[in-house]
Amino acid sequence: MKYYQLNNGDRIPALGLGTWKSPTGEVYLAVQEALKIGYRHIDCAPIYRNEAEIGQAFTEAITSGAVKREDLWITSKLWSNAHQQERVIPAIKETLTDLRLDYLDLFLIHWPIVLRPEVLLPETGEDLRPLEEVPLEETWQGMQMALQEGLCRHIGVSNFNQKKLASLNQVSGPKPEVNQVESHPYLQQNDLLTYCRSEGILLTAYSPLGSKDRPEMLKKPDEPSLLDHPLVQKIAAQYHLTPAQLLIAWGINRGTVVIPKSVNSARLKENFAAAEIVLDTEAMEEIAALERGYRFVDGSFWERPGSPYTMANLWND
Ligand code: A2P
Repeated sequence: MKYYQLNNGDRIPALGLGTWKSPTGEVYLAVQEALKIGYRHIDCAPIYRNEAEIGQAFTEAITSGAVKREDLWITSKLWSNAHQQERVIPAIKETLTDLRLDYLDLFLIHWPIVLRPEVLLPETGEDLRPLEEVPLEETWQGMQMALQEGLCRHIGVSNFNQKKLASLNQVSGPKPEVNQVESHPYLQQNDLLTYCRSEGILLTAYSPLGSKDRPEMLKKPDEPSLLDHPLVQKIAAQYHLTPAQLLIAWGINRGTVVIPKSVNSARLKENFAAAEIVLDTEAMEEIAALERGYRFVDGSFWERPGSPYTMANLWND
């Protein structure tokens, strides 16, 4: 497995298991199986509403001696209803309780979006509050406190653009080490990747396979398929890979962390094997020509009458 080294020498596995959309009743077995296959990096979040079941798999794997806690890389995230500085530590403690861990390897601000404290998912525009009410800088100070208390080893963000990342430079103390964003050949995030590299921030690619199992309400009728693209299929066949393996290998070969989700034993194995594949420059460039600025997770669910958020201000401001 390829690892990327962070500033203090800690190493994060380039391939992680995504758990967004992994249903309870299935995710326990999926994580147990993933750990058996050799996955050591699991990406979680409280809003996926499956952390308690994932925690059961962790605790069993650790107490049985199958894996050591120090060999695991566990990421989780701060949900948007806990951005107030004083709510960050209680939120990470709740996640640690569910995951049955003493610390996270990485804790991320999930979205640059503020929800009312009592709201989990917005139903009306009123459920969403403007960033001015709880500035990202304030939330970042809460993240720094979680780091200081030893509740996590590294802190970062998710769904941040360059401007929002840069705004955190105003805050003294530790800077984000990771930015987790959607990335795949249709949305390569090249400018953001260049900026992150210049700032020593690692980019993690979510939805690397196009997240075709998203709920219908988050899908558009005319979505392009990544896995079915003829060029992806052609190059995959040349390398004797499946299209999913090619997409995972492409993300890792370009220096990003990649976190494909699966709850299927055969596909977990298939995806894990992809981390070892080296693609030549020609294949990398051919795939790069698929860029079309297409977001599967476009943020439109934050946009509603009365909401301070639009897709334009979310991704561009
Ligand atoms: P499943 O969990 O049944 O394996 P993403 O990581 O972009 O969110 O994509 C996740 C979707 O891709 C899920 O529907 C998942 O289904 C599917 N998937 C995961 N691995 C593969 C694979 N190797 N081949 C095809 N589909 C896959």
